[in-house]
Amino acid sequence: MNKKIAIIGGGNLGTAIAEGLMQSGFVQPKHILVTKRNKATLYGLEKKGVLVSDKNEDAVRYADLVILAVKPFQVKEILGSLKGEFKENGQVLVSVVTGVSIEEIVACLGRKMPIVRAMPNTAIAIQESMTCIAAQYTSEEQLQYVHDLFDQLGEAVRIDEKLMNAATVLGACGTAFAMRYIRANIQGGIEIGFDAATATLIAAQTVKGAAELLLKNKTHPEYEIDKVTTPKGCTIAGLNEMEHQGFSSSLIKGLVASYEKIAKD
Ligand SMILES: NC(=O)c1ccc[n+]([C@@H]2O[C@H](COP(=O)([O-])OP(=O)(O)OC[C@H]3O[C@@H](n4cnc5c(N)ncnc54)[C@H](OP(=O)(O)O)[C@@H]3O)[C@@H](O)[C@H]2O)c1
Repeated sequence: MNKKIAIIGGGNLGTAIAEGLMQSGFVQPKHILVTKRNKATLYGLEKKGVLVSDKNEDAVRYADLVILAVKPFQVKEILGSLKGEFKENGQVLVSVVTGVSIEEIVACLGRKMPIVRAMPNTAIAIQESMTCIAAQYTSEEQLQYVHDLFDQLGEAVRIDEKLMNAATVLGACGTAFAMRYIRANIQGGIEIGFDAATATLIAAQTVKGAAELLLKNKTHPEYEIDKVTTPKGCTIAGLNEMEHQGFSSSLIKGLVASYEKIAKD
């Protein structure tokens, strides 16, 4: 399709998106422009053929699709300074900024234009993100293009914008929750005899395999659990003890606490 993509804010997320789009072949390096104030740190991308600039106006003038990847407190000032630059027809703005609504973006721009809000997670760095997207004022074709773009960087799903906070908790904070689960497995694994490296490999690959079973078989977790739990066996003994200690309950309470915290702030 040869669309030109600009990324305003070449930090952790912005550069991960650029790298992922290049590696997947979705866009050629020469069709990506990344900005940041200290553009010298984009040298690695520049060497691969990506265009770099410290002028955000260049990015908006250049691109069919502009990805905004700066910190939330910078959005107002940056979009305010660029509002005269966005094209009237066809240009799409994608914001990966946490906690800034489409309505707030429209207010910064002073007008409505096709806007997509996206919530990826840190696994975007290895093209394994779960990215939730919500849009307003886009055509189906524009939204599908953004969906395809994030599918190159993992999996994307369209959601209602009102679920964006919930997506942040389940999809983005979820990475930390999963890491804690894995860490606890490693600690337990060491206690029952493994060295740390072997325990880490076994715990991480087992969690990856469990997730793949659900994604590939499209089954319910309990169906997969039934296959492992021999009557009177060690798996059900362990699982039931975890539940007696509040395992599922503590996870659900943690998710809800995160959600309430976002809603309050
Ligand atoms: N990291 C994640 O996995 C993740 C996941 C979901 C959502 N998010 C959201 O994505 C956004 C970016 O996160 P991040 O972790 O990538 O932050 P980050 O590493 O701090 O990147 C932000 C970048 O913006 C650049 N910047 C600052 N002012 C600028 C300006 N006026 N013009 C152009 N670039 C400017 C900064 O570089 P200079 O200082 O050199 O300009 C910096 O490299 C945040 O809103 C975050 O909430 C991140």
